[in-house]
Amino acid sequence: MQNTKITDTIQYVGTDDKNIDLFESQYIVPNGVSYNSYVILDEKTAVMDGVDERAEKEWFENLEHTLNGKQPDYLVVTHLEPDHAGNIQKFMEKYPQAQIVVNAKALSMLPQFFTLDMSARSVVVKEGDELTLGNHVLTFIMAPMVHWPEVMMAYEKTEKVLFSADAFGKFGALSTEEDWACEARRYYFNIVGKYGMQVQALLKKASALDIRMICPLHGPVLSENLDFYLEKYQTWSSYEPEDKGVLIAYASIHGNTGKAAEKLAALLREKGVEKVVVMDLSRADIAEAVEDAFRYDRMVLAAATYDAGIFPCMDSFIARLKSKNYQKRTVGLMENGSWAPMAGKIMKESLSQMKEITIAEPVVSIKSTLNEASEEQLELLAQALV
Ligand code: FEO
Repeated sequence: MQNTKITDTIQYVGTDDKNIDLFESQYIVPNGVSYNSYVILDEKTAVMDGVDERAEKEWFENLEHTLNGKQPDYLVVTHLEPDHAGNIQKFMEKYPQAQIVVNAKALSMLPQFFTLDMSARSVVVKEGDELTLGNHVLTFIMAPMVHWPEVMMAYEKTEKVLFSADAFGKFGALSTEEDWACEARRYYFNIVGKYGMQVQALLKKASALDIRMICPLHGPVLSENLDFYLEKYQTWSSYEPEDKGVLIAYASIHGNTGKAAEKLAALLREKGVEKVVVMDLSRADIAEAVEDAFRYDRMVLAAATYDAGIFPCMDSFIARLKSKNYQKRTVGLMENGSWAPMAGKIMKESLSQMKEITIAEPVVSIKSTLNEASEEQLELLAQALV
């Protein structure tokens, strides 16, 4: 059981999930994930979001413990993704006098997930609407497409708490001590990255609020140095590089493209580039490669040619970058092909569909293994990337 006091009147009732193999069936989470849920205790009691169905039993135990015999008045649902909304129907059945607080979009989507008709028990809110609980007053802020269409946040003005939905969340269970930025960045770019413009709109609204504490749906409650987190979100959502450095991501069949990638990394380090990260896309966590692609200002893609196309893990990496709106970076390219190298041309075409990408010349073309000619190109590419 995990009941923690956030303030005198706000209690944490969420759960850690350290057994999940893949979050959203795609992201490895070595330290698990938390599904955060909160209770505001006042004249009226509001439960702020729920948890994944996987954690149903623990959540209801936490709730019972915190409610201590009280009946909850409201379940505020900031979005319907099942990692938070999985138990809505069970909650509404267990507490028949409770009302669900949603916006119109969420209300229209409820029947897609649940068989219980909750329309007569719903409080439908829109931008700026207030819900008074007693001393606490929740103001609702719509945040469409951060990262689902019905997403909203709730700002509690007495204690100055922003219930931020998935924003400012991270991978990693709360019982794990780890750096916030690393897993928050991996979470952000992979899950929310496509919607930078919508995050920017939200940050603009947030800048008008006096925020003392941020309660996200994953990861720790943030209560100190809030500018640090807001600035990270500002950088990430504007697609500006966060750090100077080079990610070299390679897709190598038998190791020769990998060796060339390592050689380029050595050349860059010799030339004074302090941060060079090399990733083998066949084996690395692709979500981390996406994270690093956005983190640094430069990237090199090195790929073998395969079936007259590019080796599949590079194909998939580029598709992810495109879907996350990768932009504003300098990219170097290295291709390999034992008889008809094609990878460079294909990668260049894919990158040309992204915004503000500068291709560093030359494109290094390797036939099977590095030779004098391709090593010369490698040197020139390293020079262009310094
Ligand atoms: Fe954490 Fe969008 O769900």
